[in-house]
Amino acid sequence: MRPRVIRQALRAESDPGGGAEAFSWAQVGRDLGIRPGGPVNMAYLAVDRHADSELADKPAFRFLAENRSPHDLSYRELARLTDRFGNALKSLGVQPGDSIFVLCGRRCELYVAVLGALKIGAIVSPLFPAFGPEPIRNRMAQAAGKVLVTTASAYLRKVEPIRGELPSLRHVVLVDDAGGGVVPETHGWEHLLHAASDVPALVATTAGDPALLHFTSGTTGMPKGALHVHAAILTHYATARIALDLRPDDLFWCTADPGWVTGMSYGILAPLAVGATCIVDEAEFDAARWVAILESEGVNVWYTAPTAIRMLMKAGPTLFAGHAFAALRFIASVGEPLNPEAVWWSMETFRLPIHDTWWQTETGGIMVANAAADDIRPGAMGRPVPGIAAHVVRHRAGEPVTVIETPETVGELALESGWPSMFGAYLGQPERYRECFAGNLYLSGDLVRRDADGYFWFVGRSDDVIKTAGHLIGPFEVESALMEHPAVAEAGVIGKPDALAGEVIKAFVALKHDVVPSDALRSELLAHARRRLGAAVAPKEIAFVECLPHTRSGKILRRLLKARELGLSEGDSSTLE
Ligand code: WT7
Repeated sequence: MRPRVIRQALRAESDPGGGAEAFSWAQVGRDLGIRPGGPVNMAYLAVDRHADSELADKPAFRFLAENRSPHDLSYRELARLTDRFGNALKSLGVQPGDSIFVLCGRRCELYVAVLGALKIGAIVSPLFPAFGPEPIRNRMAQAAGKVLVTTASAYLRKVEPIRGELPSLRHVVLVDDAGGGVVPETHGWEHLLHAASDVPALVATTAGDPALLHFTSGTTGMPKGALHVHAAILTHYATARIALDLRPDDLFWCTADPGWVTGMSYGILAPLAVGATCIVDEAEFDAARWVAILESEGVNVWYTAPTAIRMLMKAGPTLFAGHAFAALRFIASVGEPLNPEAVWWSMETFRLPIHDTWWQTETGGIMVANAAADDIRPGAMGRPVPGIAAHVVRHRAGEPVTVIETPETVGELALESGWPSMFGAYLGQPERYRECFAGNLYLSGDLVRRDADGYFWFVGRSDDVIKTAGHLIGPFEVESALMEHPAVAEAGVIGKPDALAGEVIKAFVALKHDVVPSDALRSELLAHARRRLGAAVAPKEIAFVECLPHTRSGKILRRLLKARELGLSEGDSSTLE
């Protein structure tokens, strides 16, 4: 029998209760050198602060090319490049509060663009490179994106054809257009940076100024832009230390793409705020490559996702035989439920447990974690990090929200609002923002239970969003793209359980009355969705149905589609909304 608890040796530094001082956000601010009421700028705190310290010549990033050759960029060099890019943006007329989008793979220019834009008070919004034109158009139009930093091929395939629909988009910067201006109506990165000054570009933003815009999906409607402020870096910094045990001497590898919130908060801001060195792997997942990176780069702290762990588990033990991960000290994961089996596999493979952490786009940083100083309960998400108060609440339509005190009772996970990285708005949707709160409680939409020792256990989502390979996808965005096809009358989209990806996107499609279903049509619809949405958002499977189930108010009953898919009893669907 495996034990229910993995004991951790207590490290005084990581133990908020056992340390010299009790935790407070004010103290985190002081640790970062922020003066009360003084300026707060993420890029200053992540980059410039170190460029003027003994860390100046230490690598901020180590980029690994396809052939795994490394390229280091020091804090000092990063400060200079981000000044240049910030000044280049200023010369293009970018003002504080303007939105800058980035759409490219993990390469040096992406990191310089993000930090340079933050430096001058612009709002940065990352787009996942596997998005197709429709998710790009939708997000950029909502935020009136003024500048897009991308590659020539992504621009020509995905943006140039829809540029006419994006009237706010003034400038496109191509990171790989060395000649400058080769593609009409774009700027070349090299040319732009060369022409820019490298005097300090910093703009004195304040704690409450907007910094980041991350789009996230709900059950209904198009993705919402969750807006985060510069003070969010207090959460990034504190949680990197407490939940990820990160120290300035560490080589840190966050495997998430900066197109999603994890890759921004913990792939860029948190580790730089701590003064660590970040590994950036420019290639896509490959099990043998990941083993080689962990071993030969000497990664100390590794933050990854359950899907990646399942893929490594699937690769089999021979992949790990004969390898030693001497430098590896701490492993953590986020984004989807971490199976206890994965924790036991990690104990066998790395002689270390995986520390699960829980958070969301809206929370901006880690809220619940199996922190370094805590014993691990395999299967549990952990306990609220210092500075965060979490509750289990009963939340039913038309009834007041009440806190459930009894352990082991399922309810919705709610957080007392006011932590520094809490989202401040859904862009342009105040009503949807208000709906996320009951009094001072932020309602997460996740169903959980808490055990008698205060550990939270994930039970499921309270809505129909899909988690595929750790990415949150809204069914509505997928259904809308399918319904653009002339053969489709209606579409209902669900997450179908999958051993590797957690869920895969499956669409149920009702065809127009004169259309005959066929395998050729199915392939055509899959290709149509992939073209419009991109590989990350398109369905993997399509089933034709006569008609879709609806609520009495006419909404598609996705829960019923899912129950059918799982072979479960359908229950009395007539009572649903
Ligand atoms: C949703 C948020 C967290 C940053 C990346 C994802 C699910 C997150 C866990 C976990 C089970 C988890 C929740 C949450 N989730 N962490 N440790 N165990 N589920 O951010 O795309 O906004 O997704 O991911 O359902 O609500 P996101």
